[in-house]
Amino acid sequence: MSPQSQSKFICIECGESYSITERRYRCDCGGLLEVIHDLSSITADKWRRQVNEKQDEVAFLRYLGILMPSLEPDSIITLDEGDTPLYNVTEEFPSMRIELLMKHEGMNPTLSFKDRGMVAGVSWAKHLGCEYVMCASTGDTSASMAAYAARAGGMAGIVLLPKGKISQEQLVQPISYGAVTIGLETDFDGCMKLVQELTAKHAIYLLNSMNSVRIEGQKAIGIETLHQLNWEVPDWFVIPVGNAGNISALGKGLRELKELGIINRLPRLAGVQTVSASPLYESFRDGFAELVPQVAEATEASAIRIGNPVSFKKAIRELKYFEGVMEVVTEQELTDWKARIERIGIAICPNSAVAVAGVKKLVDSEVIAEGEKVVVVLTAHGSKFSSSAMEYHENADNRYANQPVYLPPDLSAIEKELKL
Ligand code: F0G
Repeated sequence: MSPQSQSKFICIECGESYSITERRYRCDCGGLLEVIHDLSSITADKWRRQVNEKQDEVAFLRYLGILMPSLEPDSIITLDEGDTPLYNVTEEFPSMRIELLMKHEGMNPTLSFKDRGMVAGVSWAKHLGCEYVMCASTGDTSASMAAYAARAGGMAGIVLLPKGKISQEQLVQPISYGAVTIGLETDFDGCMKLVQELTAKHAIYLLNSMNSVRIEGQKAIGIETLHQLNWEVPDWFVIPVGNAGNISALGKGLRELKELGIINRLPRLAGVQTVSASPLYESFRDGFAELVPQVAEATEASAIRIGNPVSFKKAIRELKYFEGVMEVVTEQELTDWKARIERIGIAICPNSAVAVAGVKKLVDSEVIAEGEKVVVVLTAHGSKFSSSAMEYHENADNRYANQPVYLPPDLSAIEKELKL
């Protein structure tokens, strides 16, 4: 069997299947596609042994048999992504009365979890012979795509960004990696619409998370976490939600591990949004009602400022399967939690802080029960969002503000300030 025949696209709505080699993102019926691999040759014990033996390999290759068996290992475009830390912060937050772990995906090469998907997406683009790749972005997908396209060689990256709505550090990433970087007077949803139109019309490969090959790469976050936990399943995974690709990937990967017998039970999933952009939360609250697109308002969690999430249907499916819940947090909650987590030495982005703030609310409402083991997925690094952090710390009204002090270069002035 050729490696490619191990995988196909299946429509999540009508079940129609397509060849994995088609440059296709939706079914003819309009439904989202997912990649289904033939995993019948995998046996749990053997696979667990094999991945232990591959500890020195890059994470995507270590788990390739479940992530993307249709890719030849030597055709992979990698920046050594993965193997991110899983911090146990239980002792720092005793009042939560839970076991709290943080999977820090901001410790990837472009400082966000997007690298997990781009290793798959750009390697596949190269495999298909694509010369142009494109995405809309709130700042992290664009950084990652541009880096991997640059690494691939001979591949041009084009990014559409909502002008003025992403951080300076995020903006400079695709520029530095050589991508054509276009700012548009619209929001993410407006950029996403144009990317879909442009990639349908021209020979340009779409690398947003509606590209289901990318989702396959992102499954590695959950799989690697379980591996770090020696396949002992936590009670919860908690994750911030924007376009809803990542929660869909997390669910798909965990589902496959369970189906293969690699894990013996399922965790629950919790997705968290902000009050400024909460379409999935609203749907959950209304009994998983149909998507009502929103015009997303400004939020410090700008990477999840998305009102019309493309992967809505996949996310709802996973939430139902994993007895999942959605939560929503305010600006004050998320900025305070960002500051609190950084106080224990872990630099997180505002979007990751949304998930942490969500944990606290779910603990308070007893949805997460005392003693449960919770893994929060931190999706990007704090260093991508320096100006919002600076604003927080310069404002003495903020609970965890650490105001910088400006003094003349004078010994006694410093001694006075330090009360020495
Ligand atoms: N956290 C960060 C840091 C993100 O950049 C994103 C999405 C998310 C969470 C949400 O993930 O969209 O799969 O639900 N960023 C995309 C981007 C939209 O363009 O960088 P999601």
